[in-house]
Amino acid sequence: MEIGFALCGSFCTFSQVFPIMEQLATEHHLTPIFSPAAYGTDTRFGTAREHIRKAAEICCKDPLYTLAQVEPIGPKKMLDVLVVAPCTGNTLAKLAHGIADTSVTMAVKSHLRNGRPVVLAVSTNDALAVAAENIGKLLARRHIYFVPFGQDDATKKPTSMISDFSKIPQAVNAAMEGRQLQPILLEG
Ligand SMILES: Cc1cc2nc3c(=O)[nH]c(=O)nc-3n(C[C@H](O)[C@H](O)[C@H](O)COP(=O)(O)O)c2cc1C
Repeated sequence: MEIGFALCGSFCTFSQVFPIMEQLATEHHLTPIFSPAAYGTDTRFGTAREHIRKAAEICCKDPLYTLAQVEPIGPKKMLDVLVVAPCTGNTLAKLAHGIADTSVTMAVKSHLRNGRPVVLAVSTNDALAVAAENIGKLLARRHIYFVPFGQDDATKKPTSMISDFSKIPQAVNAAMEGRQLQPILLEG
């Protein structure tokens, strides 16, 4: 498969996501896509340059990160499926409201015009607060699927939820068959 793999700015999860990217790259062609935050922010979880280099090594391709680079994804039917992992609260909000002003949200918009699946792996502290409305909207949207998610620390972070990134390959296979991988809600 031709798989788009888009990373948003949930930096603490990158170390969990790269091994899955590596796993998928053994069987599929991957196109990495970085959101502006992912492409340009150095944090205590690593520098942007390190993350860009890592993704480029795994996918044997430099990440796409501008609107102009991702715009052809739809018209040229570049991808079979587009994974957004990690998907931030910010990107969830934009996707839920039809905003396409970043490389990742524009890639999703462009890809969806072909009626092909998008697989979101949420990772956000406000998943059970303001982002809940957006997750709800997207759950009801055609061609959008979720990587199963659950609360990661109900006591200390009562509104936080994170996907089980190890389930990305299964969620992708299910999405390619038009199915949502179940159970979608995991126990914390
Ligand atoms: C160190 C650090 C960690 C962050 N972790 C998260 C996170 O786990 N989830 C999230 O939704 N936003 C997180 N953010 C905030 C996003 O990076 C920010 O909302 C950004 O605008 C997201 O843009 P994007 O969705 O285009 O990647 C974090 C920011 C920083 C600096």
